[in-house]
Amino acid sequence: MTRYRDFHRRSIDNPEAFWREEARRIHWHTPFGTVLDRSKPPFARWFVGGRTNLCHNAVDRHLAERAQQNALVYVSTETGIERHYTYAELYGEINRMAAVMRSLGVKRGDVVLIYLPMIPEALFAMLACARLGAIHSVVFGGFAAPNLAARIDDAKPALIVTADAGARAGKVVDYTPLVDEALSRAKHKTPHVLLIDRQLAPARLTAPYLVAYEPLREQFFDVHIPCEWLESNEPSYVLYTSGTTGKPKGVQRDVGGYAVALAASMEYIFEGKPGDTMFTASDVGWVVGHSYIVYAPLIAGLTTVMYEGTPIRPDGGIWWRLVEQHKINLMFTAPTALRVLKKQDPALMKAADLSSLRTLFLAGEPLDQPTAEWITNALNKPVIDNYWQTETGWPMLAIPRGIEALPTKLGSPGVPSVGYSLTVRDELTGEPCAAGEKGVLTLDYPLPPGCMSTVWGDDKRFVSTYWSSVPNQQVYSTFDWGVQDEDGYVTILGRTDDVINVAGHRLGTREIEEALSSHAAVAEVAVVGVTDPVKGQVAMAFVVLRGAQADGDPSERARLATELATTVDRHLGSIARPARVVMVSMLPKTRSGKLLRRAIAALAEGREPGDLPTIEDPAALQQVREALGDGAKK
Ligand code: PRX
Repeated sequence: MTRYRDFHRRSIDNPEAFWREEARRIHWHTPFGTVLDRSKPPFARWFVGGRTNLCHNAVDRHLAERAQQNALVYVSTETGIERHYTYAELYGEINRMAAVMRSLGVKRGDVVLIYLPMIPEALFAMLACARLGAIHSVVFGGFAAPNLAARIDDAKPALIVTADAGARAGKVVDYTPLVDEALSRAKHKTPHVLLIDRQLAPARLTAPYLVAYEPLREQFFDVHIPCEWLESNEPSYVLYTSGTTGKPKGVQRDVGGYAVALAASMEYIFEGKPGDTMFTASDVGWVVGHSYIVYAPLIAGLTTVMYEGTPIRPDGGIWWRLVEQHKINLMFTAPTALRVLKKQDPALMKAADLSSLRTLFLAGEPLDQPTAEWITNALNKPVIDNYWQTETGWPMLAIPRGIEALPTKLGSPGVPSVGYSLTVRDELTGEPCAAGEKGVLTLDYPLPPGCMSTVWGDDKRFVSTYWSSVPNQQVYSTFDWGVQDEDGYVTILGRTDDVINVAGHRLGTREIEEALSSHAAVAEVAVVGVTDPVKGQVAMAFVVLRGAQADGDPSERARLATELATTVDRHLGSIARPARVVMVSMLPKTRSGKLLRRAIAALAEGREPGDLPTIEDPAALQQVREALGDGAKK
């Protein structure tokens, strides 16, 4: 372990020297002066004064050596479309998109909201923003109109880029009515909406400000737009994520630090070399998509595979066939996808030639042991669990095989990555825990390059949310429980807050509660995460109905339960839909009125909640128990 230990120690003891070296991985139009500005903790500014551009580093820089290499391979099993773009072709498409955006008034510092399915234009639009110095905010295509409206009001975009429709599991999902509803709900008036017409559904946007992309693209076919050279700490993007409150936080990322950190991660963790092919099965709407479908593989000169579809259509062998056909070297997905694939006919996997594949990476949720064992044996290749968050942008924990091929330990994503000074701390005292003791996973100041710079438009929230929750210490809280062993390996033991993880998607239970509370029949509601064999966790809602409805007959209550679940679909999107809505006449609370969510979750998982000395009315627990039982009998 000595090589890893030396590396890691150097990155913590002297971050300036360590990251000065790493910064050579990218192109700087103007060299930086100070490596790290620590004048305003907990804020950290990396590579101060340096000027660079993410699009230049991802695309232009490679044209000299790899213009004819594929940069992007796009496969949609929803539409049957497959397209390949060399670096030269990608350069052309990004310039066209940037020219179109510019013709609509987009300039450096403006926000462009991207609400697109998994189509190449999503990647073009992100990189076109980077080229123009505009800030992209990609909103996951599965989010519903009110969710989108909240992000429009927070990000105040100068332009929204959308499509006529997305497609999932053979079903077309119209986007334009959602955008239309979001625009009418939002207070902010977005001047233009750019429409990518896939011809899957008629565009039904009533807004007069709709602009079709294709005719403009033709008009700007041969235009070259120069890269804006941004100061390293200018924002590159905002990506919203859920937390304890109902209001999502805009995670703001910089330019230079992000490029350097991703480039370093490609060597130290992913071992991706120029010319390799990487398939990250995620969505551009999530942080894994931002970092490992779009930016990191391109910055490092790889070919990135972008996939629209599910892992089991047309059959459970599709991903393995993609590996064979495109000679994929690195694959990255979430454990949920593997739990789905595990149920498929093993012959489908055996039929494919997987010899090109070197490593499989998994992140986003805990990797359970049976799944880890199954896939390791089935593939007979390294399976690397890695742990991180939207906030950090790249792995905090992994096996840094590019530094040293440390052994994996089942149940642990590995050891802290370079630059991360990670400590497990006692929740009550803030003191470091001994090896083997459970505590909160925290990071010391400064966060390494690539991590969030602040909460968009709200520096105070950055400090009060992330840097103020551990007693007596100004450290960054991950809001995850963990335990570290004597060798430094960390095991993640779930969230400390009200965030749940459904099929690798991060959801705030408060957001789901707020959606349910908007229904007239709901008096009170508690949403908890409950263990699920495939999705890791699912949301379960416990609802107290208002007066008359509370006495309704069982069939009326069942109808209402479905209606409530649909309300969540409409507000947030179907990924947030509770797996079960359970009616109760009261919710267990403490004497000071705080909901006892952990007790409710324990009962829902068939466990006893243990000691609850401050419960207001123990009958409420009994109610929950009985209501759960009723459901089981149905
Ligand atoms: O609770 C941790 C869990 O997912 C959260 C972050 O989710 P998100 O912001 O969507 O970013 C995902 C980036 C991969 C974390 O706070 N989590 C993420 N990776 C793991 C994990 N839990 C256990 N093991 C992991 N490898």
